Amino acid sequence: MENIFDTVELNNGVRMPAFGLGTSGNKDQTVCNDTIKAAVEAGYRLIDTAQMYGNEEQVGKAIHQVDLSDKNLFITSKVDNPNHGYEAASKAIDESLEKLGLDYIDLYLIHWPVVEGRGENWKEDNIETWRALEDAYEAGKVKAIGVSNFMVKHLENLIANCRIKPMVNQIRLHPGVLQEETVVFCEKEQIVVEAWSPLSPIKQMSEDDKVQAMTKKYGKSVAQLLLRFSLQHNFVPLTKSSHPERVVENADVFDFKISDEDMDYLNSLKFDDLKAPDVDEEK
Ligand SMILES: NC(=O)c1ccc[n+]([C@@H]2O[C@H](COP(=O)([O-])OP(=O)(O)OC[C@H]3O[C@@H](n4cnc5c(N)ncnc54)[C@H](OP(=O)(O)O)[C@@H]3O)[C@@H](O)[C@H]2O)c1
Repeated sequence: MENIFDTVELNNGVRMPAFGLGTSGNKDQTVCNDTIKAAVEAGYRLIDTAQMYGNEEQVGKAIHQVDLSDKNLFITSKVDNPNHGYEAASKAIDESLEKLGLDYIDLYLIHWPVVEGRGENWKEDNIETWRALEDAYEAGKVKAIGVSNFMVKHLENLIANCRIKPMVNQIRLHPGVLQEETVVFCEKEQIVVEAWSPLSPIKQMSEDDKVQAMTKKYGKSVAQLLLRFSLQHNFVPLTKSSHPERVVENADVFDFKISDEDMDYLNSLKFDDLKAPDVDEEK
């Protein structure tokens, strides 16, 4: 990726920004306003929210406070776990539209594949929930649809039973959590991979001498190295901060390249306390 305005093409032809702002944990209206304003000014165009974060309304207000007419923002939200099933998911999409104050949502995802009370029937449950997303897509309420935290078996189940293939899979990805099997499968199926929590190992990596040497060599912070790492994997990183100055810092990752040797080192890192979530555990 050359700059923050670069996009990736989804399998339906829609172009999605290749770098995004996360919002989880940001519920305060002033924090949402300030961070989203700083983000848009710094060039972020993708903003990721979810019903689960309880901040669609705040994010909606914040995106409307910025002059959006020429900004072409790309907004993502996700169906919350208790809203699985055709009827509830259809209603959830309408609620997200209402809360965000939008005529359409750019990307809508199933947040989690195995949800409380429906664990044994996750296959049928995902197919029914997905059908609601497909119908909303065909009705123009959402411009792209996808999933989150889906592993290969969850994706295979959907692909075998859907009319419209998922366009995106949003999963946890960073040094120590590379989820190769899922990433390779998504590449093969032309499903764009988004990386959530790309800054997870920031503390551990700050204590690593080789990473410290890299910060000096590239003149970048550990956060910036982690986001660049994600981009060089062709993931679409979603990064969040409650501090506008960090939002700006995190976007300054398009003027350097991590060498192959340094990428190899970052790829080799393992952290006992940072693992991919067990998505088969009902949530
Ligand atoms: N689909 C899913 O299941 C799922 C799960 C998790 C997250 N997500 C999405 O992915 C987004 C990103 O994940 P995340 O929220 O975990 O974000 P992240 O960007 O990986 O990490 C955010 C944390 O790093 C800190 N931080 C941010 N910039 C920093 C910097 N430059 N220097 C030092 N610390 C910095 C933040 O603290 P401050 O806020 O205090 O700056 C916050 O504690 C979420 O917001 C959400 O939209 C999706």
